[in-house]
Amino acid sequence: MAHSVAVIVGSLRKESFSLKIANAFAKLAPSSLKLEIVTLHGLSFFNQDLEAPPSADWVTFRETIQKSDAVLFVTPEYNRSVPGVLKNAIDVGSRPYGKSSFNGKPTGIVANSPGPLGGVAAAMHLKTILPGISGPIMQQPEIYLNGIGTAFDDKGNLTTEALEKVMKAYIDAFAAWVDRLKK
Ligand code: FNR
Repeated sequence: MAHSVAVIVGSLRKESFSLKIANAFAKLAPSSLKLEIVTLHGLSFFNQDLEAPPSADWVTFRETIQKSDAVLFVTPEYNRSVPGVLKNAIDVGSRPYGKSSFNGKPTGIVANSPGPLGGVAAAMHLKTILPGISGPIMQQPEIYLNGIGTAFDDKGNLTTEALEKVMKAYIDAFAAWVDRLKK
């Protein structure tokens, strides 16, 4: 049976390149993976005071992660880190204390930017944030998609063959790695 992957998109923007990348991965992924795109619209700010009982949007987000076999973050870089909405989602998913929904889930990190550095700083920050509350993070291959602003047509289709090749190699490697860990 295919492994389910929650693909968490770190941008709320309607024309988000991160969302387009997530959708492109869903098309490129091998049949051993089933990708579910998770956007963060409507996920309210984490506030410890509101944990008992947690709001419906937190519960839905946590359950989405819990029922997935793996997690893939697709994130832009905001001011050399991850966007606040993504950090908030990680905070929501990481609680209650000791019961992180991300626990044990094989995790991939895909950073991107229209700029030249491909969001590498955001990816590095995720690698700092996640270890205490996630499962193993795939270390290789790494993927930092630079120059992403010209990679899609106006229908959201990938138009850059080189990029498609890199993304296909990444998602195939992720599938093989998840498969090994889940055996
Ligand atoms: C950015 N952007 C950006 N890019 C980058 O490579 N490094 C950075 O540190 C930043 N910082 C930053 C801060 C803020 C507040 C914004 C709004 C943008 C540019 C960013 O990569 C670009 O807007 C992307 O298109 C955002 O990703 P989505 O929405 O297309 O997925």
